[in-house]
Amino acid sequence: MDIKKGDTVELNVERVVYGGRGLAHLNRIVIFVDKAVPGDRVIARVVRIKKDFAEARVMEVIEASPHRIVAPCPYSSYCGGCSWQLIKYEKQLEYKHGFVQELLNHIGNVRDFKLHRVLPAPQIFEYRNKMEFSFSDRRWLLPEERNERRDNNRFALGLHVPGTFDKIIDIEGCLLQKEKGNEILREVKRYAKGSGIPVYGLRSHQGFWRYLMLRHSHCFDEWMVNIVTSDEKDQPVHALASLLKDQFREVTSIANNINTRKGGTAVGEWERILVGEGNIRDRIGGLTFEISVNSFFQTNTPMAERLYESVRDFASLEGKETVLDLYCGIGTVSIFLASQATRVIGVDISKGALADANRNCELNGIDNCEFLCGDVRMVLSQVNVKPELLVTDPPRTGMHKKVVEGILRLLPERIVYISCNPATMARDIALLKDWYRVEEVQPIDLFPNSYHVESIARLGRIS
Ligand SMILES: C[S@@+](CC[C@H](N)C(=O)[O-])C[C@H]1O[C@@H](n2cnc3c(N)ncnc32)[C@H](O)[C@@H]1O
Repeated sequence: MDIKKGDTVELNVERVVYGGRGLAHLNRIVIFVDKAVPGDRVIARVVRIKKDFAEARVMEVIEASPHRIVAPCPYSSYCGGCSWQLIKYEKQLEYKHGFVQELLNHIGNVRDFKLHRVLPAPQIFEYRNKMEFSFSDRRWLLPEERNERRDNNRFALGLHVPGTFDKIIDIEGCLLQKEKGNEILREVKRYAKGSGIPVYGLRSHQGFWRYLMLRHSHCFDEWMVNIVTSDEKDQPVHALASLLKDQFREVTSIANNINTRKGGTAVGEWERILVGEGNIRDRIGGLTFEISVNSFFQTNTPMAERLYESVRDFASLEGKETVLDLYCGIGTVSIFLASQATRVIGVDISKGALADANRNCELNGIDNCEFLCGDVRMVLSQVNVKPELLVTDPPRTGMHKKVVEGILRLLPERIVYISCNPATMARDIALLKDWYRVEEVQPIDLFPNSYHVESIARLGRIS
């Protein structure tokens, strides 16, 4: 390669690739360019050289793409949260459609299927019902802050600079959540800063304040606050909880997760409920769901409704079927399908989520769902039913090979595969392709202003 790290190069951005970056060529070398839009002509700095490609960062846009817009968020050039704010929304949808098509063609090795247009989101900001902010004793300074003399670089509460584990941008607000969430964030920051108790250092593993997690109920306009600390200290967390309760009548639930481990997760080893019942309620499609602090819930409530409606359409149930719902979480899919099936069996590894699932069945008057707790890989080998329909909604990493083998032992008539990662979905579909044909795929935009896309694939058994 005749370019080196640190070189400044002029590039024409040709397209975007899954992962969100722009792709350009220089003397036949592939260069992935961060924060670039197809159609841009940019000056970029080469930041990494690999065997077959290089990576670069935009320094100046010399000719802006017609699809480029000004990102409204002041942190968008640095924060990893929503790297596509600089792309017109209709183009975001077109690129996401292209990702699903391309990944299914190339990784999934499937061609002959109906790919619907991406269902667009009515709201492209303030749509997230859950945000997680990290405390850090290393504040990452914005370029305009770097020349100022500061004495508060040892405190940050905000979001990560992509590719770093310890650098946190101290933010005043995030456009992806409702403004009330930003007010809560600022109040927690003000309190923690003034508490005299140190924030947790992501390198030193010393300090108390670790994460702030906020959840919003779209239907009831209520908030849940989870304060994650490294230790159990009554006074500061109780004082913060009563401050928040007095100041925000919308805050109905406050928890304190205690995580003493070094690993960077907001899920504590134990939890204390400081205010309310330790859960939040929301409604999707006329059904009520209770979500406890650490249970999974789709992060965009209105689009989750579109998602579950599409699952119900793809399921084409007639009322006499048995359904197996793998990775069922708090039972959303199971409960959505319950009235159209004889029996629904959900499987999830999280005890807490399944406690929610059982309660959610009661709340909605559903009595034909049952839930099995454990790793799908193990549970699947013990399931002794023959489901007509299998729904699977694994985490981003997709399904373990053994899970695919387990599905092939059961050989259901239809599979509905829900995924937030079309690359791993395509990989898993490739393993199923001698037994199943992909009939149709519905992408849904649950994550506007990011490259992420949710998809649902309907697979029919080859007779
Ligand atoms: C993407 S969420 C889907 C939840 C649910 N279908 C929904 O729409 O709300 C993935 C779920 O998989 C569960 N999970 C992750 N790994 C698992 C495993 N190995 N076995 C069983 N469940 C697992 C998580 O607890 C989580 O609830």
